[in-house]
Amino acid sequence: MNGTAFKVSELIGKAAEKLKNISETPRLDAEILLAKALGTSRFELFTKYNESIDTGAEKLFNSFLERRAAFEPVAYITNEKEFFEDTFFVDSRVLIPRPETEFIVEEAISLLKNTKKADILDICCGSGCIGLSIKRASDCALTLSDISPDALAVAKLNAERLFPAANDISFIQSDLFSTISGKFDLITANPPYLSENDMKNFVVKELSFEPENAFFGGRTGFEITEKILNNVHKFLKHGGHFISELGFEGSAFLGRTFDGLELQSVKKDYSGIDRAALFRKI
Ligand SMILES: C[S@@+](CC[C@H](N)C(=O)[O-])C[C@H]1O[C@@H](n2cnc3c(N)ncnc32)[C@H](O)[C@@H]1O
Repeated sequence: MNGTAFKVSELIGKAAEKLKNISETPRLDAEILLAKALGTSRFELFTKYNESIDTGAEKLFNSFLERRAAFEPVAYITNEKEFFEDTFFVDSRVLIPRPETEFIVEEAISLLKNTKKADILDICCGSGCIGLSIKRASDCALTLSDISPDALAVAKLNAERLFPAANDISFIQSDLFSTISGKFDLITANPPYLSENDMKNFVVKELSFEPENAFFGGRTGFEITEKILNNVHKFLKHGGHFISELGFEGSAFLGRTFDGLELQSVKKDYSGIDRAALFRKI
């Protein structure tokens, strides 16, 4: 695609063709990448359909396309991902926030709607998308924690961008609860939940760009979730709640009992999979 000045519509068509065996959404990917290369929005792009673009932007777009053709996720190329009501900075240090994780946020917001100054802990925070989205809608002090200092650096960057004036967001590097102290009204988690076999079978192509420790939940996939469920009650205030994302087979936990916890409800996602489990401290 070098040499000739192509129109926006032609560039999108050619790019979608190039990505058709790489992506399930080749046209959308092409539009997002071209909008990024032009420093505009996807919506604005539609108003430029018959315009040609300058060679600098075309070169940048072609470099984005090469990266996408090598399976790099769009969000890592643009360094942004929309989640709930905000756009989060993301790069290969963090998991790309998934739409199904928004169920945790919805559940948390409805739980906190009459609560003032709730203390919230989001463990396994990655980009910070869960905790920061809850903070957007609730009056709360937020602690974000993760085992990965790299992930925490991204969470911090998102907190500074989304809440520049906040002085009630803190960051703790911690292997689950190992360096957490104090008690919280609400704890949220989207822990890694893939097994050794899942890692071999599913973490290929696009997924192989994301951090391994964002996926790997131990040999069976359940180890990390189980550790959280066994210990979370020690960090909840009386009557406090815990909301966890569940993996494909996560409903296996729902029939079990855990110290100090009572299962209150489970939200299914749009595919009918048990997705967000709400527990209360007893
Ligand atoms: C599935 S990602 C979730 C990220 C983010 N909360 C989201 O929903 O997009 C899991 C996160 O857990 C972190 N993690 C993995 N093992 C951990 C552990 N033992 N203690 C704390 N965090 C851990 C990873 O670094 C990763 O950021």
